[in-house]
Amino acid sequence: MKPQIIRTLAELRQIVKDWKAAGETVGVVPTMGALHQGHLSLVRAGKEACDRVIVTIFINPKQFNNPDDYKNYPRTEEEDARKLEALKADVVYVPDGAQMYPAGFASTVSVEGVTEGLCGAHRAGHFDGVATIVTKLFTQTQADKAFFGEKDYQQLLVVKRIATDLDLPIEVIGCPTIREEDGLAMSSRNLLLSDRARTWAPEMNLAMEELAEKLRAGGDWDALKAAAISRMERAGFTEVEYLDLRAADNLELLSAPDRPARLLAAAWLAGVRLIDNIAVG
Ligand code: PAF
Repeated sequence: MKPQIIRTLAELRQIVKDWKAAGETVGVVPTMGALHQGHLSLVRAGKEACDRVIVTIFINPKQFNNPDDYKNYPRTEEEDARKLEALKADVVYVPDGAQMYPAGFASTVSVEGVTEGLCGAHRAGHFDGVATIVTKLFTQTQADKAFFGEKDYQQLLVVKRIATDLDLPIEVIGCPTIREEDGLAMSSRNLLLSDRARTWAPEMNLAMEELAEKLRAGGDWDALKAAAISRMERAGFTEVEYLDLRAADNLELLSAPDRPARLLAAAWLAGVRLIDNIAVG
């Protein structure tokens, strides 16, 4: 059955009200479209855990710190709807800008702590944009559970923080990163890579896996980090914005995996910014 495409909050509220009146649980998968297998795995997780699943598609201008990045972000609504049909998503919520940011909109949700460093340090205003839109999507959908990929690990922690701090009655569930066969983490931005750059892209994950393995074996963080950055640069990455080892629960900076840790990286390849992270220790 085709998912219902809903564009207004009034319609969405009525549908969710009817579901809740029937005692059904509701899951939400927030996305910016250009859906890939990573997103689809979140929809599957939602269908397993909830009676109803809403997929939201909104390319949120407030989370782009670079106007060209916003302009070039892939837009594939028809294809997205087809993919969701196969997965039996119940509703695809596709609000427009005026629906999400009506005239006079002046509120921002801002999270401290986990937003410092990593993407927070390189993308001014990004997490305020994410936190604000996700809070709106949670209150608009009234979902019981929300599904996010671990691919955007810092984002996942930001969203968990909002739900806890603002007493939002929603459970935030992180789902594993889905990868291409060569290890490249699936991302809507991969569509922007040229064929040539696409062949170089997996080197980021390979360098991170090698680094993680050597760290687990007791290697020196500074030396291993420098070697991993050189490996990526040799493969064609032009700028490694960060390559950090951080505590998995609060993103505190580490220099050894002496507790559950994540290795997180962001780097530019042929004009495209890629991010990835893996568990260590
Ligand atoms: O991860 C994304 O695609 C976006 O940051 C999100 C969570 C949909 C908010 O716009």
